[in-house]
Amino acid sequence: MEKDWWKGKIAYQIYPKSFNDSNHDGIGDLKGITQKLDYLKDLGIEILWLSPVYKSPFVDQGYDIADYYAIDPIFGTMEDMDELIAEAKARGISIIMDLVVNHCSDQHEWFQKALADPDGEYADYFYFIESDTEPSNWRSYFGGSVWEKVPNSTKYYLHSFHKAQPDLNWQNPRLRQEIYDMINWWLKKGIAGFRIDAIINIKKDLSWTSLPADQEDGLVAVQAALANAQPIEPFLRELTEQTFDKYNAFTVGEVFDETEEELQFFIGENGVFSSIFDFKQAILGQKGNGWHDFDEPTAEDIKKSIFQVHERTDKIGVLSTIIENHDEARGASHFIPHADVDTASKKCLATIALLRKGIPFIYQGQEIGMENQYFEAIEDYDDISTINGYQVALKDGLSEEEALAVIGKYSRDNARTPMQWTDDTYLGFSDVKPWLMSQQPNRTINVAEQENNPQSVLHYYRALTGLYRHDTYGSSLRYGAFHPLFEEVENVIAYERRGERRVQVLTNFQAKAQTLQLSQPIEEVLLNNLEVLDLDKDDCLTLAPYQAVVIAVS
Ligand code: GLC
Ligand code: CA
Repeated sequence: MEKDWWKGKIAYQIYPKSFNDSNHDGIGDLKGITQKLDYLKDLGIEILWLSPVYKSPFVDQGYDIADYYAIDPIFGTMEDMDELIAEAKARGISIIMDLVVNHCSDQHEWFQKALADPDGEYADYFYFIESDTEPSNWRSYFGGSVWEKVPNSTKYYLHSFHKAQPDLNWQNPRLRQEIYDMINWWLKKGIAGFRIDAIINIKKDLSWTSLPADQEDGLVAVQAALANAQPIEPFLRELTEQTFDKYNAFTVGEVFDETEEELQFFIGENGVFSSIFDFKQAILGQKGNGWHDFDEPTAEDIKKSIFQVHERTDKIGVLSTIIENHDEARGASHFIPHADVDTASKKCLATIALLRKGIPFIYQGQEIGMENQYFEAIEDYDDISTINGYQVALKDGLSEEEALAVIGKYSRDNARTPMQWTDDTYLGFSDVKPWLMSQQPNRTINVAEQENNPQSVLHYYRALTGLYRHDTYGSSLRYGAFHPLFEEVENVIAYERRGERRVQVLTNFQAKAQTLQLSQPIEEVLLNNLEVLDLDKDDCLTLAPYQAVVIAVS
């Protein structure tokens, strides 16, 4: 296999609990995924990322792993996994798994052994710290202190996320070796690589120094302490050499707030990962005080963010791009002003996201334009981070109604409801009540309907990914350089992909028309999300609201 086999490919993320239920228990499973591989192939998918399917108590939906070598029974068996890998491969689809090694579950055998003997060998797989009170004032990602008392002991253990997700001690070479062995075991099995969860958190400030509080609770976000942490480089270099390099694996890191130097280290010439996610659009408008303190991103914000990201990273390495994932609201609801959300604007957003440089990750349901979900009450949510976000909003003085409204906008459960295959009672996802479901799902958005409708968002996504396979222009879209166009024209997001050929992507991300003077005649219109094309003899192109046009120029 070629070294950079993954470059220019199209990826898809599956949230296994919510993709397709094959055995009538209301929970998606591996066989359910295998049944839909032809659907994914038709969509043009080449890399498939599965959120965790390992054995887990599901406190954080599988991001709390109790056994890295076992498939959780709710998803099926290891045979089902082998079958999925083989069937995917037969369709030219490479499977990547989620690698969650900043922490494991408190049910993992290592942690159980550590609890049984807080001074023993396994305690050193974690951060067990002798202390009279919490060793620092850091706040976990899901709220509350990062420290939890070790029962029957004078120690505390560290959990950057939920207390059921104890952090693993990467200082310990034995722990590191266990992780490498596990990774190699999976790679040997035939998976193509990993999406690497929360990896920047493996470095710690081992002096556990408290920092000035950033909220009324007297705590400070644990991320702030990363600035004083020991270097992460030796860990990740060793990890890569001991595992990924040997298998030519594709790896994509979940990395936030990287510095210039780190960017080089992560994805540069000798980078430790193949790619990292671009989260710059996802975090637009966030002010750091919780979900309730947020500005709606505008078209100009989105454009600036995308252009800056490419300017900064294209000379260094390849990013993986998203408009949504299992931790975010639905892209259509997040990035398109509420009044403008429709088929045209969803296609427009898809065009911007899929044809920019990088590896586009389509999140399940994005390709049919799924939107945020309605939940009546806080009790209807499952996600721990949503429940925390709600409480933070209440503490900051919002009424229950207001808090519920912001949660409705940013909850991770917006993206975690079942994939909508049909308009049936349980959306063709299952024939029994799904583990999570809105009281009022928008049933009109479903695969079956869109299959039969050539104007649907789904058909448009297929057309977009089809451009990657275009005989003449495909390679320029897969590998070509990214150049901003019409930067000064407000609410127009446009760029050129320049490889052997030149392809221009022109989108008008607003509710009014906008005329553009093209610099040269159109050679061919490769894609248009509307039926009209308003072009005059002087090459003035007037884009209708939310029109997206992909053209070839000479
Ligand atoms: C990552 C995952 C998220 C999870 C967290 C802890 O951010 O994407 O879903 O809750 O890590 O593992
Ligand atoms: Ca099932």
